[in-house]
Amino acid sequence: MTETVLLIGGGGREHAIARALDGSDVALYACAGNRNPGIARIAEGFETLETTDPDAVVEYAESVTADIAVVGPEAPLEAGVADALEEAGIYAFGPKEADARIETDKAFQRRFMADNDVPGNPDFETFDDMEAACAFIDEYDGDLAIKPAGLTGGKGVKVIGDQVTAEGGKAYIRDSDYDRIVLEERLIGEEFTVQAFVANGDLRTAPAVQDHKRAYEGDEGPNTGGMGSYSDATRELPFMTAEDYEAAVEIIDAVVDGLEDYRGILYGQFMLTSEGPKVIEFNARFGDPEAMNTLPVLETDFLEVLTAARDGESLPDLEFADQATVCKYAVPEGYPTDPEAGAKVKVDEESVARAARATDDSSGDEPRESAGDALLYYASVDERDDGIYTTTSRSFAVVGLADSITEAEAIAEDALALAGDEGLHMRHDIGKPDLVQQRIDHVNELRGE
Ligand code: AMP
Ligand code: GLY
Repeated sequence: MTETVLLIGGGGREHAIARALDGSDVALYACAGNRNPGIARIAEGFETLETTDPDAVVEYAESVTADIAVVGPEAPLEAGVADALEEAGIYAFGPKEADARIETDKAFQRRFMADNDVPGNPDFETFDDMEAACAFIDEYDGDLAIKPAGLTGGKGVKVIGDQVTAEGGKAYIRDSDYDRIVLEERLIGEEFTVQAFVANGDLRTAPAVQDHKRAYEGDEGPNTGGMGSYSDATRELPFMTAEDYEAAVEIIDAVVDGLEDYRGILYGQFMLTSEGPKVIEFNARFGDPEAMNTLPVLETDFLEVLTAARDGESLPDLEFADQATVCKYAVPEGYPTDPEAGAKVKVDEESVARAARATDDSSGDEPRESAGDALLYYASVDERDDGIYTTTSRSFAVVGLADSITEAEAIAEDALALAGDEGLHMRHDIGKPDLVQQRIDHVNELRGE
């Protein structure tokens, strides 16, 4: 039976979700604030609307008689879109507002971990009084991470000893008008992400991914939503052991146990410290860019996961291709502090697709060294009658898939050059052997090896 699925959100992550459903027995509809050309092409209908307006989303869902809705970004979850869809009798794969607090309220998240004995919680304190927070910074023996309790698109955190001094941190707190902040122990190590598909008390995890938050090469500059990411052909990353991966899964498992009816994606962001994985944060959705690493290697039909979730059944076991992936984002000049919105973007999709076919073709006399696949994902661009334009967020991403990270990186770079990167910025260092080796050396050093 054909399922009618409504996809909410118009970024690279949602393009990856749309593509994961393409070819399954679905009638796909989508809605977002921007018209994403990649999603619009796959979907049977695309509506531009305010996705944080539950009534508007429900109205569109009802008009297309959606059976299942997939909520991509966090803002609609925080606005109660999953709750509103449920009330209208439409199954939402995405947590209700109360459960989404695991992401949307960092003070709740840390308290929840403490109350439920979830391992990997750093020392933390919550403050409503900003002067009391500044006094805590003066008293605390060690560096702290300053986190606004609410959503900031990953851009509100300042780490003392890394991005700011203690004085700079206090000035940041005083100059911002946050109602509540969390101060927590600065964790030292390597970051990684594990995403879990959750429903009916079941959880199925995907291979680990490493995102790159900083805007510029060498991990310099301001934090962004994520400039690019890689995953390996195994579940763990080159700087991790299988035990580190399992420890992260156990942490996610403990969260799912504590949240009774969680459903959707539960994303754990971890710091691999000298004492093993500690939690940086949880997200109530796929990561962006991480979805673009995970969904292209998911061999299990994503629709099967959605229908099992909806029907109250056990989730299918997930199969992932043994392939490495490297994702690189092209973002507007000036992103994230002063992004140039409204610039025309020229993307040569045909060349990327042709190159992907060429690299895929191993039947030739001279098989290319970097046999693999290249994919292009549109993100927060807006398609208008006369072309595609930048918004204030990330524009498009390319993903290379191959047997090794090094090969996948080379493919991603080729694809980026072919797609056209004029007027856009990207981090070429993501997934390059030097940077990956630095991660391995860093962890070895922390472990005293
Ligand atoms: P978040 O918005 O929680 O993902 O934080 C953004 C970035 O801040 C993370 O990717 C980390 O690089 C950094 N960060 C957050 N919390 C900590 C912490 N406790 N210790 C060190 N770095 C942190
Ligand atoms: N890549 C980080 C995030 O999706 O929040």
